[in-house]
Amino acid sequence: MSNDLNALEAKLTGEIAAAADLGVLDAVRVAALGKKGTISELLSGLGKMAPDERKSFGAAINTLKSRVAETLDARKSALETAALSAKLATERADVTLPVRLGGMADGRIHPVSQVFDEIAEIFADMGFRIAEGPDIESDDLNFTKLNIPPEHPARQMHDTFYLNTPNSAHGTSASPFVLRTHTSPVQIRTMMSQKPPIRIIAPGRVYRMDSDATHTPMFHQIEGLVIDESTHFGHMKWCLEEFCKAFFEVEQVKMRFRASHFPFTEPSAEVDVGAEAIGKPGQWLEILGCGMVHPKVIANCGLDPDKYQGWAFGMGLDRITMLKYGIPDLRDMFSADLRWLRHYGFSAFDVPTLAGGMSG
Ligand code: DAH
Repeated sequence: MSNDLNALEAKLTGEIAAAADLGVLDAVRVAALGKKGTISELLSGLGKMAPDERKSFGAAINTLKSRVAETLDARKSALETAALSAKLATERADVTLPVRLGGMADGRIHPVSQVFDEIAEIFADMGFRIAEGPDIESDDLNFTKLNIPPEHPARQMHDTFYLNTPNSAHGTSASPFVLRTHTSPVQIRTMMSQKPPIRIIAPGRVYRMDSDATHTPMFHQIEGLVIDESTHFGHMKWCLEEFCKAFFEVEQVKMRFRASHFPFTEPSAEVDVGAEAIGKPGQWLEILGCGMVHPKVIANCGLDPDKYQGWAFGMGLDRITMLKYGIPDLRDMFSADLRWLRHYGFSAFDVPTLAGGMSG
């Protein structure tokens, strides 16, 4: 009997070793250990044996059964490992191959989005974070807290869209809602919710009732705000100059700070850039408004103006996009014309970086 068992084990071991894939191996398993398999049949024959014989033979079959099961398991994991290695070998990726554009080649990044990414990259390098606020803003944050009280002439200049919704439906303050006329309320939101030191830029859509070749009712601005205990006008000039050099990708840039007036800054300035930065020498281009944040604005946000000071700027995103990329008509920017977008848009792979270049 035990000779038979040895012979059976040798036969099964041979078959297991010869099984070239998991399918064949499973067939061997079923033929040996399945319900009608050779080993199972031997076990079911035990009932007909004499008790002594049954005992020793039963033990021997069970040993055989577990040895065969172990051999099967070992072979199974060897085959699985081999199958995985073979799969990995066929799926190896050559990371040095050029990118296949596929559908991505058809899509285009809008120049305003691209320019925002460029600006974010430059200011992130100087330690600024990105802040955001809603397009629908309270009159209080859009105007009053920025030191533009009701009846202030600046409110007329902004040609504001007021919302009909009674404000009480939305909140506690009695101030009506407007479509924000500038990104400056994000300064207020930031100062009300964060402790200085603050360094943020805030991009976004803004709205004014205005429409001609150089004005659209919706356009984009980017706001900057720095608040701490000692930052001053000199820091602002340096930051803005570094920004212009990086943005226009020039070694030197001519800048002019003209005295101006904004209710929320004192002193205030408007900044012009020498147009040689975009290849048009002899002209000046106005790019932004800026100034030292008015102490009243700091106090309106619950910060102590004797302790904290800072500066801010606001820039027209669409305007500097047109300047940098030679786009002639503002209205085309928002006409959703695919031909325009294919011409002026950017590939999704043109990610602007300071090291790799700004304009892709
Ligand atoms: N909010 C102003 C506008 O829309 C632009 C501006 C000017 C923003 C001076 C500022 C600033 O932060 O300091 O015309």
